[in-house]
Amino acid sequence: MNTQSVNPANDFANLKVRDLVVQNFHAAELFEKLGIDFCCKGNKNLKEALTEKQIPEKIFIEELNKVNYSSAGETERYSEWDLNFLAQYIVNNHHGYVRNAVPQISAHLQKVFNAHGEKYPYIKEVQNEFAAIAEELMSHMMKEERVLFPLIKYLVDSKNFNEKPKNGGYGTIQNPINQMEREHVSAGNSLQKIRELTSDFNLPQDACTTFRLTYQELEEFEADLHKHIHLENNILFPRAIELETGLMAETK
Ligand SMILES: [Fe+2]
Repeated sequence: MNTQSVNPANDFANLKVRDLVVQNFHAAELFEKLGIDFCCKGNKNLKEALTEKQIPEKIFIEELNKVNYSSAGETERYSEWDLNFLAQYIVNNHHGYVRNAVPQISAHLQKVFNAHGEKYPYIKEVQNEFAAIAEELMSHMMKEERVLFPLIKYLVDSKNFNEKPKNGGYGTIQNPINQMEREHVSAGNSLQKIRELTSDFNLPQDACTTFRLTYQELEEFEADLHKHIHLENNILFPRAIELETGLMAETK
């Protein structure tokens, strides 16, 4: 068994699901395919996750090696990025995408409901679920942009200016992070519900072009949200906590 390309520095038994995605985001495609949650539940032990899905380790490693081999040299090194740059990337890339996609997908869902709602009543449920995610995400992104990301910037500046951060009444950064993580779980659950309602985005035989397009858009929305949550839960948040802990431990 060749585990060299998995992570030579770690014992396979101690790896968490998220470790592999942090190392190479292309591993996310493999986890998506296997139905393993790498973002909200990225903290899970890899061995445990494989056992739950009844996937033999040997097969998994072979698949992972293929992913690593085919994507060699084209991976963004998110875990090495400056924290402000990463936060800004999330805002520009992922928050921007959500703000553009929500009105478009909502309009397409309405069109599909008007044309097929009577025959396929679950479309109404998908619409309601999507409207709930959209509302939650808009407020979630605003909290990150107005509260959490400026706090991260403050910590990065404190480090750069060699100053101990003053506590601004938020206790520790762990508090707003806990809240954001709870909201990620809620958004992830709602998307899972949409997956169940649509039987994994399986189109009915008589689906029209808009129906097809809407399912594609919903699937893209899900993939984008998974990546977005991964970048925050598995990279940005732990690094911000580590930064704060380090700065508070310094005696000044
Ligand atoms: Fe978030």
